[in-house]
Amino acid sequence: MSDELKKYLEKSVLCWLATADASGEPNVSPKEIFVYGGNNNILIANIASPVSVKNIASNPKVCVSFIDVFEQQGFKVKGSAQVLKSGDASYDSYLAKLRELADERFPIKGIIDVNIEKTASIKAPSYFLFPDVSVEQQVQNGLKTYGVSRK
Ligand SMILES: Cc1cc2nc3c(=O)[nH]c(=O)nc-3n(C[C@H](O)[C@H](O)[C@H](O)COP(=O)(O)O)c2cc1C
Repeated sequence: MSDELKKYLEKSVLCWLATADASGEPNVSPKEIFVYGGNNNILIANIASPVSVKNIASNPKVCVSFIDVFEQQGFKVKGSAQVLKSGDASYDSYLAKLRELADERFPIKGIIDVNIEKTASIKAPSYFLFPDVSVEQQVQNGLKTYGVSRK
């Protein structure tokens, strides 16, 4: 697990979790309560993720992607997931990490624990097409695209 990947896990507001059922039918949905678990794993709170949880039960292979939308870069992670329940080993310490992002108003039914097996960086094409463009210039473009400014 590189420091760079951990950095983008923290900087990214959302991740996208892709799963597939036993027949291969894909499903992808956004999750905002996710953290680095400390054991080469990513933890995602199951608050309202019935399809992801069902798919993981029959097919543990998942892909998670996350980017800093202003920098327009981040990572794609592939691995095997399991859904942890209260009482499972590590559940309480993992829940405490997720609770730093979402308090008790958010009912966490379980924890999707993704063991990281493969990683690849994701970069907007402009990083390759215009190699002289700095990250700061990308951020400026991103702010413009989203119609927002920094405080
Ligand atoms: C911005 C955003 C953030 C979300 N974050 C989470 C999350 O952290 N955990 C969760 O279980 N569902 C989250 N959801 C809800 C699921 O993505 C949503 O219920 C989805 O339709 C069902 O997920 P599934 O495909 O995993 O069943 C979020 C939805 C949005 C739009």
